[in-house]
Amino acid sequence: MTPASPLQAAWTRIADLAARPSAHHIRPLFAADPTRASRFSASFEDLTLDFSKSSIDSAVLTALLDLAAAAGLKGFRERLFAGAVVNPTEGRAAMHMALRSPRDGGMRAALPGVIDDASVLAANERDKMQAFVARVHSGELRGATGQSFDTVLNIGIGGSDLGPRMVTEALTVVNGPKLRARFLSNVDGHAFKALARELDPARTLVLVASKTFTTLETMTNARAARAWLAAALGEAAVGAHFGALSTNLQATAAFGIAPDRVFGFRDWVGGRYSVWSSIGLPVALAAGWETFQAFLDGARAMDRHFQTAPFAENLPVLLALVGIWHVNALDLRTQGVLAYDERLRRFPAYLQQLEMESNGKSTGLDGQPVPYLTCPVLFGEPGTDAQHSFMQLVHQGTQAVPIDFIFAAVPDHDRPEAHRILIANALAQAEALLRGKSRGEVEAEMRAKGVSAADIAAIAPHRVFTGDRPTNTILFQRLDAYALGRLIALYEHKVAVQGCLWNIDSFDQWGVELGKVLAGGILPELSSGATPGAHDGSTEALIGRFRALRGE
Ligand code: F6P
Repeated sequence: MTPASPLQAAWTRIADLAARPSAHHIRPLFAADPTRASRFSASFEDLTLDFSKSSIDSAVLTALLDLAAAAGLKGFRERLFAGAVVNPTEGRAAMHMALRSPRDGGMRAALPGVIDDASVLAANERDKMQAFVARVHSGELRGATGQSFDTVLNIGIGGSDLGPRMVTEALTVVNGPKLRARFLSNVDGHAFKALARELDPARTLVLVASKTFTTLETMTNARAARAWLAAALGEAAVGAHFGALSTNLQATAAFGIAPDRVFGFRDWVGGRYSVWSSIGLPVALAAGWETFQAFLDGARAMDRHFQTAPFAENLPVLLALVGIWHVNALDLRTQGVLAYDERLRRFPAYLQQLEMESNGKSTGLDGQPVPYLTCPVLFGEPGTDAQHSFMQLVHQGTQAVPIDFIFAAVPDHDRPEAHRILIANALAQAEALLRGKSRGEVEAEMRAKGVSAADIAAIAPHRVFTGDRPTNTILFQRLDAYALGRLIALYEHKVAVQGCLWNIDSFDQWGVELGKVLAGGILPELSSGATPGAHDGSTEALIGRFRALRGE
């Protein structure tokens, strides 16, 4: 019998630990060690990750750290920061960290046949963006009628929408926007119809944001916006109102956008990692350049931490390992994210792309099916709103759902009592999930209220909470641009670590291709009728039904 490799041995050790009868239990760990919060948490600057409300004990943590070592995480991290090809199916580096490095950061990035000086390229593009932002804010750059811009309309989807939209929304609440930002992603014509009603074409700057500049939804919306603008101001006005954020300079030129209005980035930036690039231009326009720079600085600080901290103190590594324990050891297939901060309303939507597009893979780097689960299904809503929707299932449903609770200690409004209520709820949810409520406790409470024995027998089972439901808490001082940059980079690196441990390519996204191709085939059939035999029976019938409902 061949001896197990260190990696196999590490997975086996984790499986053995998960097979213990106590593997799902958390309360006994606190009973045995009331100070475990200090051992199972880690901090960087004012940011703390507390994962003590999980069933991870010292043996499990050691096994998870051994897994990271056996999976070659150290070498992977070195290759990632060295700009090596960590996205082999596309032959690219994943060098979004260079976008937040200084000009002399010395970061390099591999593309097929080319090594880019990534820090310098990023700094050059930043300079161009900063100058543009200054000209728009000063009113030097105006629309075709001579009026200054009061709105930036970002047209993009996926990574060209979720990041800039979420970050802009988060960072303009406190001081209000310097320039109003609106986002158009969905090709559904209702989205543009609603926006067009509130926008004044003479005062709108339109940014077409698309890494590839070929995405059907974005190009359809860009053409609609162009027609809308030309109808209002004339064809000659278009140039003064349009800009592009893209890697595809040929296509932006073909669309008619002047080179000085095109802000580029390179293929070593994945779409879902691109908010730090020119894709972040709407953030800088809406929130101001200093805010955008602070956002980059926060991410850079997390990069340095991830790159240098020992794994046992490394927040992205620990967050990733907790996730691995939940998915691979305890078979928990979902992950909730509850930010108790209205400004982070869109954070779960952003994380859905970051995590699920990155690690929603089932083929290993060796081309073989991976023999274990990978990315959990991620969802979330802001707290406390979420408490009044899906948290019932999280407390009492048949499956445990790990939750990340996220909040800042200091609010940026002047109603401290509201903030205390908000945070009391976050802490109470996590405590309730851990503690639960036993049948005995429920019955005693009902008896004390004078409930009859018959009613107690009927109702008490419904009021029992099992408890022992795992949560992480991520707490920091206040949600400013720096803290948000750090928070996003924390999750970016968590995703990279998990991809390394699962031995998958976290930086490609072949899974979104098939639907795009089939949509291209179905599109003409919605006018002409389904080609017989081209589809499954359901799709063919639905095309027919769709056409009938439209009277076609
Ligand atoms: O469909 C997935 C995807 O390719 C994402 O990865 C990307 O963020 C999004 O589409 C938009 O792509 P683009 O920026 O090229 O328009």
